[in-house]
Amino acid sequence: MEQKPVLNFNNITFSYPDGRPILKELNFKLFKGDRIGLTGPNGAGKTTLFHLLVGLLKPDAGTLEAFGRPLEKEKDFVAARRKIGLLFQDADDQLFFPTVLEDVAFGPLNLGRCAEEAKKIALQTLALLGLQGFEQRLTHRLSGGEKKLVSLATLLAMEPEVLLLDEPTNGLDEKTRHNFLDILTNLDITYVVISHDFDFLDRATRSIYALAHGRIHTEQKVAVHQHTHAHVHGSLPHEHE
Ligand SMILES: Nc1ncnc2c1ncn2[C@@H]1O[C@H](COP(=O)(O)OP(=O)(O)OP(=O)(O)O)[C@@H](O)[C@H]1O
Ligand SMILES: [Mg+2]
Repeated sequence: MEQKPVLNFNNITFSYPDGRPILKELNFKLFKGDRIGLTGPNGAGKTTLFHLLVGLLKPDAGTLEAFGRPLEKEKDFVAARRKIGLLFQDADDQLFFPTVLEDVAFGPLNLGRCAEEAKKIALQTLALLGLQGFEQRLTHRLSGGEKKLVSLATLLAMEPEVLLLDEPTNGLDEKTRHNFLDILTNLDITYVVISHDFDFLDRATRSIYALAHGRIHTEQKVAVHQHTHAHVHGSLPHEHE
């Protein structure tokens, strides 16, 4: 029997009301266990793609499916969002409670856990991410990297089936990035990571695709190359024209 995709973008076309077309009959399927990297130029529509899937935006044409069900009405998106953890490109869009503990406990509470259970899950998740002692910290005062990790904690506390990570390593130092990579690759979870960080994508994913000219190009896998030579990027991961 053919496996059903967990997420399915079927001929999706989208433009912002004031702009040029962003996505043009884009097709993409994600299957259980997939670990996909998505790259592509700034402004290509990568973040837009994630926002369409969780219902923040509506396609002009085409259909979306999650877990075998069409995403059409708000109630379909509400059900899908319970199983999909979206890490926003900007962590300030993710965190809205005064303290870290409240933010991380909110998801489990919202999924029907009692206050005590939600707190326990939140504490366990924070510990998993090496964030013990952050419970009472004020979210708006956290550093950029700390906000990213706390944002990931808010998602993991809900035990999602799929993670959509929008540039998760932006602003992370080398040690935190490594820690993030370790946590992610040890999770038994399906995910898509948008990133320009090829070294991270190479380690965290099994396939890397490019979004360009309104479509995801799955036929051409993005080759990752690492080398050291004398120019401004030195040994840092970088792209050549
Ligand atoms: N609310 C909006 N209204 C109008 N245009 C928008 C809006 N949001 C994004 N855009 C435009 O749509 C295009 C795609 O944006 P998107 O954020 O999806 O790109 P991206 O591939 O995630 O880029 P980056 O790598 O820089 O994060 C960009 O040109 C952007 O300026
Ligand atoms: Mg983006």
